[in-house]
Amino acid sequence: MGRGRVEAPGRELPVLQDVISMTKKSVMARPGLVLLLLLSPLSLQPSSLSQLDNTEGKATLSGLILSALERATTFLEERLPEINLDGVVGFQVLEVQLRGAQEAWALDPLLQPLSLRAGHLADKVAPLLHSSIAYLNLSDPEYLREFQPSLQPGFWKLPRTWTQTNASLVYPWPKLQDSFSEDSSDSCLVLLLGTGNTSSQPCGLSDFCRTLMTKPGCSGYYLSHQLLFFLWARMKGCTKGLFSQSQHYISIFCANMMDLNQRAEAIRYAYPIQDLFMENIMFCGIGGFSDFYKRRWLEAILSWQKPQEGCFGVPAAGDEVRHADRLYQQHALRRVKRREKQFTDGCSSHSTATAVAALGGFLYILADQPLVHGERHPSTLSQGSMTAAPLDLLP
Ligand SMILES: *[C@@H]1O[C@H](CO)[C@@H](O)[C@H](O)[C@H]1NC(C)=O
Ligand SMILES: *[C@@H]1O[C@H](CO)[C@@H](O)[C@H](O)[C@H]1NC(C)=O
Ligand SMILES: *[C@@H]1O[C@H](CO)[C@@H](O)[C@H](O)[C@H]1NC(C)=O
Repeated sequence: MGRGRVEAPGRELPVLQDVISMTKKSVMARPGLVLLLLLSPLSLQPSSLSQLDNTEGKATLSGLILSALERATTFLEERLPEINLDGVVGFQVLEVQLRGAQEAWALDPLLQPLSLRAGHLADKVAPLLHSSIAYLNLSDPEYLREFQPSLQPGFWKLPRTWTQTNASLVYPWPKLQDSFSEDSSDSCLVLLLGTGNTSSQPCGLSDFCRTLMTKPGCSGYYLSHQLLFFLWARMKGCTKGLFSQSQHYISIFCANMMDLNQRAEAIRYAYPIQDLFMENIMFCGIGGFSDFYKRRWLEAILSWQKPQEGCFGVPAAGDEVRHADRLYQQHALRRVKRREKQFTDGCSSHSTATAVAALGGFLYILADQPLVHGERHPSTLSQGSMTAAPLDLLP
């Protein structure tokens, strides 16, 4: 694979070319996709990418994403005993997204090669997850027991309909939170999952957790954990009491997470905001907000992958590192590192997990979205995957 380091003075363009050349190589082993790509000029520039017909454009982008995911899976394979629970959750979500993409593409004869490639990768991820869980059972059995439902097949469900964030729900005066505690948040998730020592019923909620998880004005990881709480409530099928308003809270939180991601882009993703940025795309994407899948955000994420290791994490020495101002540093670093696993080479288990689940979401929406011009999948269109929310991925 094209692992050679490409110096990237102008950032996005060379990186995209790098990924495209890698895709060209991997494509050579896949005659069907070559056929598809032959319809378009192979020396793709980002600008010409936007002129591609929808199907070709989607196939090309999907090939780039699959290449990145294949390399990230190699990272998982090589560091298996060291991946922590967050890392496993990210790859679990990825497996679900790959299966979803595989199924959607299988409906279209032209896209069989992509379908096979997604299925092949999912088949590779699944046994790695099993081994990884066995390692976690040795290193931190109590923690694994509490969060095991989130690692079980069928827990993570892909969005059946797509919507967009509503900017009028953004808090007028976002304030920094200084009180986020991962332990408190975990205890609320355990209550929700029903995996605590005392409670055995899912959908549990205490007054403390109700206050913590619905508190307005939160930002950073506090905000993304509030969203995670209501997402998991939905995955577990909790609908009573507070959970009858899950969608209301999900809409508010994702509107604010969109605002945060736009700010992250405005400061050119200064380190260490990438991790939170990708976590927001992972969570709100699986929550069904299609506007998190922007093509320039996809290009940014692809450019952060370490070419040697296939992982995501701290930018390498020599890369252009733009440090965030103190404000962003503070609230990004407030994340408790108990579950974080930072490798000496700058790879982060958490960042790699959020990256693969964000990228898997891009892949899934590319496969799932009916074509706007409607020459294919007309049934999907009329079934109305609700309103055909405009896909930001394609101009
Ligand atoms: C962890 O190991 C224990 C003891 O061997 C076993 O009973 C349990 O099922 C394992 N849990 C998982 C999630 O593999
Ligand atoms: C956005 O939210 C506001 C405030 O709740 C609401 O009045 C408006 O109808 C929403 N817009 C859309 C498009 O849903
Ligand atoms: C639950 O029980 C286990 C084993 O007895 C113990 O190690 C753990 O700390 C308990 N957890 C909580 C949240 O009380």
